[in-house]
Amino acid sequence: MKNSYSNIFSFNKKIIKKTIKTLNNSDVIGLPTETVYGLGGNAYSKKSIKKIFQFKGRPKSNPLIIHYFNINNALKDVIINKNFIKLYKKFCPGPITFILNRKNNSKIYPLACANLNTVAIRFPKHNIIRSLLKKIDYPLAMPSANKSSNVSPINSKDVFEEFGKKLKIIIDGGKCKIGIESTVIDLTYYPKILRPGIIDKEMIETVLRIKLKNTSKNEKIKSPGMLKKHYSPGIPIMINQSNYDGKSAFIYLGKKYIKKKNFFSLSKKFNLNEAASNLYKVFRMIKKKGYKKIQISKIPYKGSGIAINDRIKRASKS
Ligand code: TXA
Ligand code: MG
Repeated sequence: MKNSYSNIFSFNKKIIKKTIKTLNNSDVIGLPTETVYGLGGNAYSKKSIKKIFQFKGRPKSNPLIIHYFNINNALKDVIINKNFIKLYKKFCPGPITFILNRKNNSKIYPLACANLNTVAIRFPKHNIIRSLLKKIDYPLAMPSANKSSNVSPINSKDVFEEFGKKLKIIIDGGKCKIGIESTVIDLTYYPKILRPGIIDKEMIETVLRIKLKNTSKNEKIKSPGMLKKHYSPGIPIMINQSNYDGKSAFIYLGKKYIKKKNFFSLSKKFNLNEAASNLYKVFRMIKKKGYKKIQISKIPYKGSGIAINDRIKRASKS
């Protein structure tokens, strides 16, 4: 019987060749990164960029992240500054995205940046995407590989769930280690975190030796197109819950209810990085089990807990 996941491939020499050919043809593919799986295409190609927006059903006002192998490749497209160099040296390749000013002669297809004069750039760490980026002479525009406003995929099968056979190639790189999207920091002015992630405020402050403004719990969304409703598993989510309603799926930290039906722990050890890496997996699992609603207990507002709170808050908007 033919494997129903026949467009999911493991990474080897043959698939590298096929992948490069597909990308050169302005097609888009599913790819693992250390954060979440991405939907990648040639950032310099009009056809690729249009396809990405179309596949995702993404509003044209929401710009994409451009992925590079290293700083030398990015210099063609963006104007760098001292803060960028400090953070690049410390965290790259890794789960952080920088907003920088775009060079006038950059070849990035303007729609990829929602026609702004800034560009979001990232240097992913996963060995599969790195070996691919090394072999092509253009960067990859790559949003998370989910339909707009859905939960980001952290396995190749999650990508298949989103797009099925519409993608010619989905490369399997196992479960994404980090499991939530990269930190986004705007460096075009006084540095400002636009999307919290595993690389948190304190880590960035230590490197830049400055204080960043607090991302307050009630702050408005500043990134263009950073839609409020996002990361949603498609069922109602209630956050900061302490009383179980008796029928919903209940997400919490620790092992207090480990043997209880309907209770799902993000981390038995209260480890917030581990909790972040399990969040989307647990969302998808709960949805598949047929629950009609999710309750989530209070998550501490520190370290990666800030990123978790950001995602669950957006997921809870109806
Ligand atoms: O971890 C990640 O960053 C993943 C993997 C695949 O690399 N990608 C990802 O892409 O999360 P996406 O498209 O789902 O999220 C990109 C975010 C959006 O919130 C977008 O608004 C913001 O980056 N962004 C992109 N360009 C921007 C710009 N010029 N100014 C401000 N925000 C920007
Ligand atoms: Mg996304």
